[in-house]
Amino acid sequence: MIKELWQYVASSTELPVAKQMGFLKEAIAMGARSKRCQRQWDAHYLRCKQTIFAATQRAVQKRTVLIFGAGSLNDIPLSYLSSQFFKVVLVDLVFLKPARRMASNYSNIELIEHDVTESLEWLCQGQTLVQSPFMWLDDSSIDLVISLNLITQLPLIPVRWLMNEFDLSESEADIVGKQLIFAHLRYLKQFSGEVCLIADRVDIELDSQGVELDRFDPWWDVEQPKADIHWEWEVMPLGESSASKSQKNVIGVSTL
Ligand SMILES: C[S@@+](CC[C@H](N)C(=O)[O-])C[C@H]1O[C@@H](n2cnc3c(N)ncnc32)[C@H](O)[C@@H]1O
Repeated sequence: MIKELWQYVASSTELPVAKQMGFLKEAIAMGARSKRCQRQWDAHYLRCKQTIFAATQRAVQKRTVLIFGAGSLNDIPLSYLSSQFFKVVLVDLVFLKPARRMASNYSNIELIEHDVTESLEWLCQGQTLVQSPFMWLDDSSIDLVISLNLITQLPLIPVRWLMNEFDLSESEADIVGKQLIFAHLRYLKQFSGEVCLIADRVDIELDSQGVELDRFDPWWDVEQPKADIHWEWEVMPLGESSASKSQKNVIGVSTL
């Protein structure tokens, strides 16, 4: 806990909204959780890396690869991408020091702190305006785009922020959540290279015996593109957030 607090104080972000709205705190908490749940999370990271490996092989040319939601970089085959592509562009709102250190080993890997919704400045001020993102759409050197365990995360912090800070009603919050997911999907579809979407499709809560208690649609009822490959991610093993409940997410991969 003290280590995480120190990490929070010592971390800087290029985007003030990332700290203000709570994304930096969440990135630090997620780093700590990934260490506590290493065995379960490593299996998921491996599947992500294999998926990126396969998508790279489908890319017709290998000039630039763009990854949204790069975060810890733990689910990205860095050496492989660095050797295959002329340029590797990794995007997230927040990059912590361990990720910066890893990326600094490769001269052609660039980390960019950027809001992929291009809407957080508005949402942070309580204005429920969801924009259509356009960054990189005019870059014709992008041959592969990966959206990496990101799309269902986009609404979570902004919607909570709007409800807590600006008394947004549940029905208004629901519209913002849907718009953020829909806008990201539409954005991805506008790239002309190979586009691969890795995302959770259903989140399942289990009791201590592994019996299903409940399941949630993390897409806020937005229609999901068909997934060609699936796997299960034990995201919250028993004891992580509760002694009597665990959570697994079904991850799906779509080519858009
Ligand atoms: C579930 S994590 C996956 C991160 C990474 N693939 C990993 O496993 O470490 C979701 C990531 O989305 C990022 N994120 C959330 N909202 C974002 C936004 N508006 N723009 C860019 N990144 C965002 C978070 O900072 C976080 O790193």
